[in-house]
Amino acid sequence: MKVALVGFGTVGRSVYKMLQQAEGITPGLVLVLPEFYSAPFQTTDYNDILNDPETEAVVECITDAEEGYKYAKAALLAGKHFVSSSKAMVALHAPELNRLAREKGVAFLFGAACGGSMPILHALSQSRQMDKILSVSGVLNGTTNYMLDAMQRKGCSYEDALKVAQQLGYAEKDPTADVSGRDSLRKIMLACAVSYGILPVEGLNREGIESLTAEDVNHFAPKGLVCRLIAQGGKNEDGSVYACVEPVLFPKNAPECAVLDNNNLAKSQCLYNGSLVLMGQGAGGDPTASNVMRDLILIKNGLKNFLPESCEEGKANNEGGRHRYYVRLNAQDIDLFPAAETEMDGDICRIITSPMAVSRAHDAAKAIRSAGRKVFFAALAE
Ligand code: HSE
Repeated sequence: MKVALVGFGTVGRSVYKMLQQAEGITPGLVLVLPEFYSAPFQTTDYNDILNDPETEAVVECITDAEEGYKYAKAALLAGKHFVSSSKAMVALHAPELNRLAREKGVAFLFGAACGGSMPILHALSQSRQMDKILSVSGVLNGTTNYMLDAMQRKGCSYEDALKVAQQLGYAEKDPTADVSGRDSLRKIMLACAVSYGILPVEGLNREGIESLTAEDVNHFAPKGLVCRLIAQGGKNEDGSVYACVEPVLFPKNAPECAVLDNNNLAKSQCLYNGSLVLMGQGAGGDPTASNVMRDLILIKNGLKNFLPESCEEGKANNEGGRHRYYVRLNAQDIDLFPAAETEMDGDICRIITSPMAVSRAHDAAKAIRSAGRKVFFAALAE
């Protein structure tokens, strides 16, 4: 199978390297921007790829979601399989591209868009077809895990930890997507789409790590707690889907605390299979490229989609999930959370709440911030 490539950055270069030594797959043309062009295997014209009858599949590894979408649509319309590692693009357009691929009888896979090297979407797609997926959760962003680990284990500052994560090639071009939890949210949206055939685009809750300070770490670490940024999705009892991203504090012997550096962890809970945990590198060129290659091998062997035929956009319902939260806030905002335990430090309060709905905790933090004040909150793992 001849495979063309769109994008020649961190992931694209690794895919190209792996294409040269894969079994039964050969590299085709690589689409690059004019300033990076060099003959003979590169092109600056996508039509060279679309019009090459020998090219059966296109791999896209670029950042710009709308550009990526155009490449995806054109490739599928031309009857070529399409593999993407772009979370942003797939989280925006998955149902439409799934329909188009099915109409054209070609494959649309995006394993590397969730979990870097881990075949979590592959596993969820299989589980959906023979089990009942109750929930999916985990550490789905390598940059923030690298930063949290460096801040908590090595005492690094937030800024230094981010700088190193960028140098190591883990962070997005604009790292706001990482630290704000947006990248993790896109990944859990995709996990929900694969697990339930619903891509939740509304009613989502997202909190990143931007509000975490060294003082917070110094306060909760002596209590044996470790912070991880956790994405969670699942089915409520009424059949609706929930999906959110938020910091969670775990007791230090929890499996999530063993996820160090840029590693990711994905956990699925199924009715028959029970609990399944995958752990591996969540970012970086070679690990991500290996999941792109996994998709290509599966296409070569006949797999065409992760998503069910009926996959549609939908609304998340985060009112059902309830957690106790650790919250640091100004004394004047304390009434916004149901405090069960309170520690005062001047004007700063640190509270443990009684169980409260995820959506309510996120709304309370939003209200505090829109009044120009600060808050950090993290769910307490039960
Ligand atoms: N910026 C992403 C991360 C890259 O840090 O996880 C892999 O999706």
